[in-house]
Amino acid sequence: MNRNYDHALQQIEGVVSGESDLIANLSNIAAILKELDGYFWVGFYLVKADELVVGPFQGPVACSRIAKGKGVCGTAWSENKTILVQNVHDFPGHIACSPLSQSEIVVPILDQTGKVAMVLDVDSSSVGNFGEKDQLALEKLAEIITKIIPV
Ligand code: SME
Repeated sequence: MNRNYDHALQQIEGVVSGESDLIANLSNIAAILKELDGYFWVGFYLVKADELVVGPFQGPVACSRIAKGKGVCGTAWSENKTILVQNVHDFPGHIACSPLSQSEIVVPILDQTGKVAMVLDVDSSSVGNFGEKDQLALEKLAEIITKIIPV
């Protein structure tokens, strides 16, 4: 997979630098990421009370709400760590919003007080489509997003 994360992150820093609205920024970030090879679905689930609610995304219609600790997204939230799933059929409790999703990576994004504010979810329609390079780049992106979350 040819994913030029340096270019995507540069583009993202440019787009968010002149805008203070979080939803506008997350929407453009999702659009930029969707251009990367093999990104079938990419979007944000925002922490609202005790569940995740879908936010800006690109791709097919998705589940609206995910409970804490459920699925890959809810687990990344409750454990506050990135979860890389090479084959979604091997992840107990995986939530299949689309039967076409085969692998995924979910990265928690913290607010400036250190609490998980949202998760970034990327799905691919091929098995084993994400690795360490993706994880490092998306965790770098998570740090950029933390800085643009209003205090
Ligand atoms: N697969 C995710 C649900 C979100 S969708 O893939 C867009 C999960 O198990 O949490």
